[in-house]
Amino acid sequence: MRFLNTQNRSKPVRWSIGLALLAALVLAIGACGSPATPAPAEPAAEVAAPTEAPKSEPTATTAPEPESTATAEPEPEPTAAAAEEPAMTFTGDPDAGQYIATLTGGCGCHFNRELGGLAGGNKFEGPFGVVYARNITPDMETGLGGYSQEEIASFLRTGAGPGGWQLHPVMPYMAFSVLSDKEALDVAAYLHSLDAIANAVPDRELTSDPAPFTPAVAPPAEAPTEPVARGEELVTIARCSGCHTPNNEDGSPNMDLMLAGATVRDSIAANITPDDETGLGKWTVEEIATLMRTGTRPDGSEVEGAMAQQIERRFNLLTEDDALAIAAYLKSIPAVNHDPFE
Ligand code: HEC
Repeated sequence: MRFLNTQNRSKPVRWSIGLALLAALVLAIGACGSPATPAPAEPAAEVAAPTEAPKSEPTATTAPEPESTATAEPEPEPTAAAAEEPAMTFTGDPDAGQYIATLTGGCGCHFNRELGGLAGGNKFEGPFGVVYARNITPDMETGLGGYSQEEIASFLRTGAGPGGWQLHPVMPYMAFSVLSDKEALDVAAYLHSLDAIANAVPDRELTSDPAPFTPAVAPPAEAPTEPVARGEELVTIARCSGCHTPNNEDGSPNMDLMLAGATVRDSIAANITPDDETGLGKWTVEEIATLMRTGTRPDGSEVEGAMAQQIERRFNLLTEDDALAIAAYLKSIPAVNHDPFE
């Protein structure tokens, strides 16, 4: 039954747009960078694992070089785990899923430059061992083609694969765990709408099996519409914290300085807490929303560097309501007096 659904998914137009977008994302953000940083709202205990993520990630300017995967053995885990017969229906809205995927960074870690799609293979190394971004195109043999929408949603929000194996938290499922049921199914539908690319990714080699992850709060059926809650969700999945929150020496985020500014590569990410002196305290919600979509500050100056890239590649696509929601959330968090330039 798993093989019934192999045809019938070529949507060249959407794909080429998505591809251009993803390519742009990857080339410039190394979209997977900041990402390994966990959701700011999660309790510290929940977020211990991702600190093992490669420390170099947040400073990467491009996606890692794809390793050659041509001769790799097929990954055994997914096929072994594919025990049940899923109903292969995708009920989500692919366009809504693409919007969410783009805001998270376009799944850029999975982008394979040689093959021109989300065919995986990029290598991530750290004290934890080696993992390879998986092929998340709907290829039946080597990608997600054999997975149901529920199984894909599970990978996305808990890192749990069918049959009880667990993704390494280099894949930021902890941040994505706040996605609503609907959004997770939308992303699954988006991935399912892509062209299948055959690419067998090498097996991971980990020093220990990742711990199962259960989100602290069960995700809602639908995304919140109340602005502060929606803004918190978006700031979490977009992983603003990866750049705007400084790290402790062990690489974990310093929660006392959440979003209070940090050094990113050769630039400094501003304090975006509502502190009057060092943060966004004097900005209106509308001014913050405008900056998010255009990069223009209230005084007419433009943001530069890493933030300008983020806006160009993803935040300019924010709907007005979502930009306002992010602003409302940023105004609601504790003001922290901290000057990252000092
Ligand atoms: C890749 C790193 C990165 C990510 C991710 C990122 N930012 Fe930034 N951000 C920066 C940098 C660097 C600056 C400073 C740019 C400058 O000085 O021109 C900045 C500036 C800003 C500013 C302007 C503040 C000021 O005083 O001028 C706001 C507001 C902001 N970011 C909000 C956000 C939000 C909200 C998110 C997530 C939705 C986010 N940023 C994600 C790096 C990042």
